[in-house]
Amino acid sequence: MSNHPPERDTLISAEENRTMFDRIAKHYDAANRAISMGMDRAWRRKAIELLRPFRGGRYLDIGTGTGDLVFEILDQSANVLVDGIDPASGMLDIAKAKAARRGLGDAVNFFVADALDLPMESETYDGIVSGFCFRNIERRQKALEEMRRVLKPKGMLVILEATYPESFWIRLGYRLYVPLVPLIGKVLGDGGAYKYLVDSIEDFPKPDTITDMFGAAGFSGVRYRSLTFGTVCIFSGKK
Ligand SMILES: C[S@@+](CC[C@H](N)C(=O)[O-])C[C@H]1O[C@@H](n2cnc3c(N)ncnc32)[C@H](O)[C@@H]1O
Repeated sequence: MSNHPPERDTLISAEENRTMFDRIAKHYDAANRAISMGMDRAWRRKAIELLRPFRGGRYLDIGTGTGDLVFEILDQSANVLVDGIDPASGMLDIAKAKAARRGLGDAVNFFVADALDLPMESETYDGIVSGFCFRNIERRQKALEEMRRVLKPKGMLVILEATYPESFWIRLGYRLYVPLVPLIGKVLGDGGAYKYLVDSIEDFPKPDTITDMFGAAGFSGVRYRSLTFGTVCIFSGKK
């Protein structure tokens, strides 16, 4: 049963989302490591393995936040160009500082933009990735159509997202862990944002619904892989 208003797919508005991520930007990476018990790195690595970046390719990370998926693309493939976009400039400031520390120069470009209105020409990218962002997008079907538009033919879309586990027993364990998440967030400065994280995961559609949405947007070879007992899924499809 979804609790969002009919005009959008999300529990909170795009503007509330942006201000929330700007507010938590400084602690985002630390909270991520703590809440995922360090597993977020492996999830991102797996997502980029599925994206299969190649030399000379051009890639887009939607909802890049503090940029970790961009850096993972660069770790897995030499000589690529990667754009990272996000409406929250506070998150991008952290991403830019990390890129500067790594001396990445022109290989990466972080800028403010929204998944629902991508400011790029059609058929720009060889691949698109998006991590833990799709759940936050107000109109998800429209976002998939935008992603498909800016992909080159045969370009790959990979979406990594937190999901509510389907197994009864895993749900039991999950329910025991879930109250700790806002507590960890509170210790790191913002319990409310992490309460939203938990609520939005429960509100997010089942994996089969997401793959149907990929199909409706025109992607082929659509599939998902469950990681860590179904608490995370990687969805993929080809233009
Ligand atoms: C949970 S963070 C994930 C950051 C990063 N991808 C990662 O793997 O850690 C979600 C990000 O999605 C961004 N976001 C939310 N709505 C968006 C939209 N409509 N378009 C693009 N990014 C959006 C947020 O600002 C936030 O930085």
